[in-house]
Amino acid sequence: MPDLSINFAGIKSPNPFWLASAPPTNSGYQVMKAFDAGWGGAVWKTLGVPVVNVSSRYGSVNYRDKRMIGFNNIELISDRPLADNLREIEEVKKYFPNHAVIASLMVQSRAEWHQIVRDVTNAGSDGIELNFGCPHGMCERGMGSAVGQEPEVLRTIVEWVMEVAQIPVIVKLTPNISDITEPARAARLGGADAISLINTIQSIVGVDLDKFAPYPIVDGKGTNGGYCGPAVKPIALNMIKNCAQDPEVRLPISGIGGIENWRDAVEHILLGASSVQVCTAAMHFGFGIIREMTAGLEQYMTEKGFHTIYDMVGKALPNVLHWEELNLKYKVTANIHEDKCIGCQLCYTACEDGAHQAIALREGTRVPEIIEENCVGCNLCSLVCPVENCITMERTDSGTEHLTWKERTEAETIPTTFNDDRAGGLHHWVPEPTAALGKEKHKTLPGKARQLGNPAPATDVVNES
Ligand SMILES: Cc1cc2nc3c(=O)[nH]c(=O)nc-3n(C[C@H](O)[C@H](O)[C@H](O)COP(=O)(O)O)c2cc1C
Ligand code: SF4
Ligand code: SF4
Repeated sequence: MPDLSINFAGIKSPNPFWLASAPPTNSGYQVMKAFDAGWGGAVWKTLGVPVVNVSSRYGSVNYRDKRMIGFNNIELISDRPLADNLREIEEVKKYFPNHAVIASLMVQSRAEWHQIVRDVTNAGSDGIELNFGCPHGMCERGMGSAVGQEPEVLRTIVEWVMEVAQIPVIVKLTPNISDITEPARAARLGGADAISLINTIQSIVGVDLDKFAPYPIVDGKGTNGGYCGPAVKPIALNMIKNCAQDPEVRLPISGIGGIENWRDAVEHILLGASSVQVCTAAMHFGFGIIREMTAGLEQYMTEKGFHTIYDMVGKALPNVLHWEELNLKYKVTANIHEDKCIGCQLCYTACEDGAHQAIALREGTRVPEIIEENCVGCNLCSLVCPVENCITMERTDSGTEHLTWKERTEAETIPTTFNDDRAGGLHHWVPEPTAALGKEKHKTLPGKARQLGNPAPATDVVNES
């Protein structure tokens, strides 16, 4: 049985799954319920001078039959008095001494930072997370992402906190910045023990077409909010990778953003996170999702032979290179498995209009055909195909050659002029522009179909959809 427990920069937790600072960690009741369900830790809803929130607060991107693939909020930090929160932190720790309770904090002055750090430490918190990420409301007052976007200010505040901190300090970063490693480095220079990322991304999720106002609407008006949920995972993964690969950051990373199941969590871990935090999924589906998360993670680790979380932290990082280091000699070609094809021809349309005209339709069947010589191996058809494994990408190069853009640059064999005959697409066939005219009509005519192939060929292939 693999060991799921972690020691994250000195914060111990029975498993790497923490609730992120947000509504699910607004009260002792919720945190106790979550721990009882199996969560390993909770980052308390950010504490500071309590705020007044608006109503409504949330917006969502629903895509086709999926609700909340992206989630947006204009909520601020905790609106509950600090004393109530401190009392409840203390109570949770009495019942769950081995679980991680991390106090998320956001205040302004040095004196306030000193005071609140001492308060949450006395209440029994296992760690502190500095919220330098909130992209709405608090940043206008010089807090939240206003700090996360200014590495020097961030460093100064971390230094203030470290003057009095006796428990581990995590700095939570904002993704609303062009280079996430800058605030991450500043956190290290300030003396932080760890970083967590990402907080929400500044966003407008939609506009009401009748009220002419952005969602969520507050008395006919709206404002930009913070975006999170499944849609932001790719952005979070990239930023985590950037921090994990940066030799000047070298801090434990708590991964946040779009984690809904054990697979999402593993992806964060493989790119360098050693704990993970969840907000939107817990708001959407409740605390019970932890059962699938821990069971799935355990099974994955058993299958892969990982004994501890640390056996897998950053395991994918050596395979994340710069583009110029990728092998230009590697080639894949699409392959349609006829037995699986349902004849929807989505692949044909995508390749014909959006890629390289490398799929033809044949007379007498709805199963399209790949024109290998035109296929550049872009993946598009396999991505649009609705049937799992119906289009697979097969390796077609010899497997013996390896040449990168970097090597070509060093060997001075890269294209350097506008009409250079070393350009990648030079020998790739494309139809004449005029072949596009009347194409839709001609698609149905036998004999017109395989205008694609070069050398042009076979008469048995017809565009007939
Ligand atoms: C309604 C809402 C309130 C949030 N409040 C806070 C907060 O008080 N402090 C904080 O650091 N992050 C806050 N966050 C950000 C989350 O902690 C988390 O960083 C973000 O939602 C990304 O994770 P997810 O994709 O799992 O939701 C909030 C997010 C939401 C949706
Ligand atoms: S998209 Fe897939 S299922 Fe549809 S026609 Fe192409 S190969 Fe067949
Ligand atoms: S991989 Fe790209 S180029 Fe090749 S058939 Fe599919 S869509 Fe066309």
